[in-house]
Amino acid sequence: MDPIKNPFSPGAGSPPPELVGREADLEQARILLGRVKLKRSEKSMLLTGLRGVGKTVLLKQITQLAKSTGYKTIFIEAHENKSLGPLIIPCLRNLLFDLNRIAGMSDKVRRGLAVLRSFIGAVKLTVRDITIGIDIEPEEGSADSGDLEIDLPHLFVAIGDAAEDQNCPVALIIDEIQYFSQKELAALIMAMHQVQQCQLPIVLLGAGLPTLPGLAGEAKSYSERLFNFPDIGALSESDAVKALVEPARAAGVEFEPLALQEIYNLTKGYPYFLQEWGYQSWNKSVSSPITLQVVNEATSEVISRLDRNFFRVRFERLTPGEKIFLRGMAALGTGSHRIGDVAEILKSKASSLSAVRAALINKGMIYSPSYGELAFTVPLFDEFMMRAMPELNC
Ligand SMILES: Nc1ncnc2c1ncn2[C@@H]1O[C@H](COP(=O)(O)OP(=O)(O)OP(=O)(O)O)[C@@H](O)[C@H]1O
Ligand SMILES: [Mg+2]
Repeated sequence: MDPIKNPFSPGAGSPPPELVGREADLEQARILLGRVKLKRSEKSMLLTGLRGVGKTVLLKQITQLAKSTGYKTIFIEAHENKSLGPLIIPCLRNLLFDLNRIAGMSDKVRRGLAVLRSFIGAVKLTVRDITIGIDIEPEEGSADSGDLEIDLPHLFVAIGDAAEDQNCPVALIIDEIQYFSQKELAALIMAMHQVQQCQLPIVLLGAGLPTLPGLAGEAKSYSERLFNFPDIGALSESDAVKALVEPARAAGVEFEPLALQEIYNLTKGYPYFLQEWGYQSWNKSVSSPITLQVVNEATSEVISRLDRNFFRVRFERLTPGEKIFLRGMAALGTGSHRIGDVAEILKSKASSLSAVRAALINKGMIYSPSYGELAFTVPLFDEFMMRAMPELNC
């Protein structure tokens, strides 16, 4: 069938043709945005889930919701190798300039800019255009101690004051939050705590791997009282079917029930894989309906594409020792496993694996779903490891 009309959209952050199964999360976001706008307190939302479950697309949908509710939005994607200061400063500067445009420079907006200038000095940024871009003297003694946990709360309160003054709520949206260091996460949590205590109209909406609630808890023990951590997971069978059937039907194409059943069995309802199977099955099919036979023909192509792209990019970032560790985990089958069992299968001591384990957690490849247990953050990565390394220790 015509590939140009193919409605499926496999990709990182590519909006799906039909965002199914996320109604409860969107409703929670709608309530949160509505309440913060009215200066009522509500826990901020940090979406958590495995790779490819749809955190980024949901965050983008929530961003749209925030915009249509009258929020100014700031979007940041955290990186493994970039710190919070340089990421957030340009966005906050633009925000303050935007607030300024709404009703002319008020004292509060001017102060926001002055505090931001101090903050920039304290972060010791070398990025010149940022410093040049703010033509206001820094406010000495505010947000310039050099300790992020002290400075970021000051800065957020100054910005929240400006936002309140201009009657314009602000949504700070951060993807991949798990990449912030513990110190940065602690500073962010403290800043949001201050904002909430002062009832200022700033809301934090974020997304990260399932490690996030643990990291936030370690950074600040009160984080669970400030944030909700909605679990974004695989779709139920009926939602997975809907994610395939509705976009195809809108383009005048049907799926055979057995074809749908097979795709669900293969993907286990993981959104990224649903898009891949839908996309390839559409291209392989010569006419409607898409049959089980077509899906079977598409499967080997989908798997080799996943192996070459989705899985391979992650695999390439691993050291030989990390690959062996993950291969050992994969040999134990799906689900979570104890480090002792991984050590046993690799014929080594658990203590000698702890550095590799920590490195893999840092890279976001594995996480600990419960005490002493380890699991992959990438769905179906265990099956990939078995294909990529048929022999243990190779
Ligand atoms: N609710 C949904 N229904 C159908 N498809 C979806 C849904 N959510 C996401 N997808 C599709 O899944 C794929 C992955 O989405 P997205 O990039 O948002 O995942 P992610 O959780 O952010 O992944 P990562 O952790 O790798 O950043 C995209 O192709 C998207 O179109
Ligand atoms: Mg994402």
